[in-house]
Amino acid sequence: MGMEQTLIILKPDAVQRGLMGRILSRFEDKGLKVIGSKFTQISADVAATHYADHKERPFYAGLVDFMTKSPVLVLALEGVGAITICRSMMGATFGSQAATGTIRGDFGVSNSFNLIHGSDSPEAASKELALFFNDGEIIAWDRANEGWVYDLSGDEPE
Ligand code: RTP
Ligand code: MG
Repeated sequence: MGMEQTLIILKPDAVQRGLMGRILSRFEDKGLKVIGSKFTQISADVAATHYADHKERPFYAGLVDFMTKSPVLVLALEGVGAITICRSMMGATFGSQAATGTIRGDFGVSNSFNLIHGSDSPEAASKELALFFNDGEIIAWDRANEGWVYDLSGDEPE
């Protein structure tokens, strides 16, 4: 598993409940690197495109409405295996079922208002990063403590 980039959205409920900082801290604490960040109110078009796979589902209209009701914090995160790591930190989709220790498990009880989105595959990640970030908005930067976050003595960060 190599270096990956993933798209995270702190959803309207996370913003309204003042949980942005605490959720972002979890990713920073883990060692994931923020390479993009945007506080924005997304349009119905963007929300519909983002969740297009769910178009036929009964919750789709409500989901698009929820995602556009308030600003969100969109993040691009980078790390070895970042996609899987972020999904496991988020927890199960429904707050009522998400395990303690996960973001959804620790901060919410609702099934619809579940605080956070994370890309679920490399294909989804590249599509979603392109949907939310323009050229130049993802920033490759050198982290001062990189050599203590990863073992960099070999060919790949370990
Ligand atoms: P996400 O895409 O937001 O990261 O969430 P996920 O992969 O864990 O779950 P997914 O199946 O992709 O569902 C997308 C979002 O739709 C809402 N949802 N509501 N009421 C319902 O039955 C229901 N099912 C899904 C949630 O906001 C979920 O995150
Ligand atoms: Mg999903």
